[in-house]
Amino acid sequence: KYLTLAAMALPVAATADPTGCDTGEEVLKFSVVTALQGHPKGEAALAYADYINAEMDGRYCVEVYGRSELYPDDETLFQAMLDGDLHFAAPSFAKISGYAAKADIFNLPFLFDGPLHVLEFLQSEEINQIGDQMSDDGFAALGYISNGMRQFSSTVPMRRPGDAEGQTFRVSSSSPVTAAVLDIMGITPMKLKFSEVYDNLANGTVQGQENTFANIQKMGFYEVQAAVTETNHTYIGYPMLTSQRFLDSLDAETRAVFLIGAQLITHERNRFAFELNQISRRSIIEDDGVVLALSPAEMQAWRDAFAPVLDEFKPSVGAEFVDAAIRINA
Ligand code: LMR
Repeated sequence: KYLTLAAMALPVAATADPTGCDTGEEVLKFSVVTALQGHPKGEAALAYADYINAEMDGRYCVEVYGRSELYPDDETLFQAMLDGDLHFAAPSFAKISGYAAKADIFNLPFLFDGPLHVLEFLQSEEINQIGDQMSDDGFAALGYISNGMRQFSSTVPMRRPGDAEGQTFRVSSSSPVTAAVLDIMGITPMKLKFSEVYDNLANGTVQGQENTFANIQKMGFYEVQAAVTETNHTYIGYPMLTSQRFLDSLDAETRAVFLIGAQLITHERNRFAFELNQISRRSIIEDDGVVLALSPAEMQAWRDAFAPVLDEFKPSVGAEFVDAAIRINA
């Protein structure tokens, strides 16, 4: 099945080539921090570019830049979008919580029973509350891209929440929810850009991190870690953002192409997100990385340890919003 995916990615990869646009076409840039080929977010961005470039041939041309080539997912990215220098980006939910407090829902540990439940939530009406919060600051969420569940990795093989006590872990955001989770583990959080993680793991500035299998494999984090522990404790996904200013600059028919394209592509691509993460998981093992699968009893210890975080942050994320997510597990 994934051979088909790889084959689908090949022709699309050409759109990432900045010279691929025709003279006279307006170039629109899509900034991605992760890998492109074989990565859930990268593949979705490439597929969107492919869609727009076919539908809008001669008028618009989307170029996708991966691996933080254009912007890190920080304030410079959001500013570039508002300034009209950048048209598309998909920073993780964790990184938009400054604009949309409800996005912190995905940092709540063990909220969803699994990736299929998250997908259902991404397709629900409720998810639009996050996009609505972004719109107050001039952003528009065109759709939601799925990656997968986060796993912990460290220089010590971890089976229990306290096994890496005393270490410093890289985190992707200043989320108080994430800090509370690490605090329970006796771990100090250090916020670093995604592009800085490998080097800082390698030189020992941080000893661990949390990420999806796709991110851990494509960035090679497992090479400088003793083991990746399969906790599936939280989730990484992305609003696919543009600026309201850009949408407003388009006539209704053109705008519809950008909006419908995002809906189509996210719907189509998100079905493969879980599988791409499983492929990355296998690749890590094939490359002599260590993935620790936990027994049901070990998993329960992680769930029990993190349970207070849900109670503590449910009110600030939004009790009804969190309850809507919990109902999906039923
Ligand atoms: C991270 O910074 O670890 C992730 O948010 C990267 C990403 O975009 O998945």
